[in-house]
Amino acid sequence: MTRLPAKDLPAWKQLAQIAAQSTYPDIPALLTDERHRERLSLTTSGVLFDFSKQRITEEVLHTLLQLAEQRNWQERIGELFEGGMVNTTEARPALHTALRAPPNTQQSNQEVHRELARLAEFAQRPLLGVTGKAITDVVHIGIGGSQLGPELVVEALSSASSPFCCHFVANVDGHAIRSTLNQLNPETTLFVIASKSFTTLETRKNAQTARSWMLERTGRMEAITAHFVAITNNLPSAIEFGIAPHNCFSIWEWVGGRYSLWSAVGLPIILCVGLEAFQELLAGAHGMDEHFLTAPAAANAPLLAALIGIWNTNFLGVTNHAVLPYDERLRLLPGYLQQLETESNGKSVRHDGTDVGVHTMAVLWGGVGTTGQHAFHQLLHQGTRAFTADFILAAGSDNEHDDHHRWLVANCFSQSQAMAQGHHADDPHQNVAGNHATSTFVLDRLDPKTLGALLAFYEHKVFCQGLIWDINSFDQWGVELGKRLANVIYDQLGGQSAVLQDASTRALIKHTRRLQGSP
Ligand code: F6P
Repeated sequence: MTRLPAKDLPAWKQLAQIAAQSTYPDIPALLTDERHRERLSLTTSGVLFDFSKQRITEEVLHTLLQLAEQRNWQERIGELFEGGMVNTTEARPALHTALRAPPNTQQSNQEVHRELARLAEFAQRPLLGVTGKAITDVVHIGIGGSQLGPELVVEALSSASSPFCCHFVANVDGHAIRSTLNQLNPETTLFVIASKSFTTLETRKNAQTARSWMLERTGRMEAITAHFVAITNNLPSAIEFGIAPHNCFSIWEWVGGRYSLWSAVGLPIILCVGLEAFQELLAGAHGMDEHFLTAPAAANAPLLAALIGIWNTNFLGVTNHAVLPYDERLRLLPGYLQQLETESNGKSVRHDGTDVGVHTMAVLWGGVGTTGQHAFHQLLHQGTRAFTADFILAAGSDNEHDDHHRWLVANCFSQSQAMAQGHHADDPHQNVAGNHATSTFVLDRLDPKTLGALLAFYEHKVFCQGLIWDINSFDQWGVELGKRLANVIYDQLGGQSAVLQDASTRALIKHTRRLQGSP
């Protein structure tokens, strides 16, 4: 189906005209109106989504909603949930929502529930190593979507009562696997190898090192059966690696890596946080799916977030988006969203291969509050870059240090207030311009359900932005180029003669080889 480029849509043109008006109001002026706050604030799935510190007038909001209409947003969401080929370059659906659909609902899938039952059975039986000792440590080996989600959730939700100590190894850097292995006893360690393709360099390399370590230390081939589990769509390769078929769990072609934490890739969550927590996480995400499917546009949290992001990026010149969790447990959220949002929507061409013609995803980065305040917030308050930010916090503290939490919340709200209002001083060095748009998401408390809802919210925001820009949010061809080039350079570092390298890379290889003692 032919679609117009975003910039040719009537609502887009109208938004451009509004943004060009010199009288367009600043955020402090908008904040004086209670109706503005009401229009831009909603609660669903245990989360308050407060967009009221955005620079959005009623007219802009109305036009953004028209933009969504002009892209047939409802029809397109239907297509996503019904398994349409939304990943056009790989001719695949993206059915992550089916991973969290309860039994007997429209999207529920028998294979998914069968695999969930296998995972539950695996997690509930006593886990014993090859010498009969109980497993104490779980090492999850995976990268990108096969690591960021489970690591975020385990870090956010695990408690001191967790039955296993959970470790994550992603980087191909030998320091990563070495520092993990150095802490472990092979007799009590379980390795979970998560790779949809089972071909990813980093994961294969780390898995092979773990396998050699296990064999060297136990001297027993059966140790691989007892101590290794695979999560993959490539069963033959996992079996060839030595993993027993009954220890292999499936993910399917239609689950994108960065949307896979809801699948067997979430096994460390089940092991280290609990099966019930994992089920709650899925339930929270499903609740957000329902909201996304049924809420009208003006009250649809992911759609609104997406449209607001489009306004900021394409009409107000924002180039940077900061994710600022005011919760130590969400320390890994910026990294997780960096992959979800930028690997999905960092694209330059439309579905049909033509130039997208407008900016797509901004640079996304961030850090946890309040530590970030003493590092990079200076740049946010007085730097020259146009940015937006998401503040995320929980109303309930879940720890006994209530006064710490009160300070944490006070700091979070004061930062967004300062970014909105600024501070006008006669001394230019003291002046803080303000007028920076931010959103604040307040979780009732950080629990599996609200976290599931929050992560699903971001997934759907990404989908909506992709549909407005008319790009494929589900492929990542740019990542492949680096992988191909690394193979060539790897050979040259090993002494193969240089064929095509540019002078700079050739000299870097030569320099490094010389320092490594090679001719
Ligand atoms: O970074 C590229 C990528 O393909 C991601 O999309 C994916 O999450 C990651 O690599 C890992 O892939 P796999 O699960 O196949 O090892």
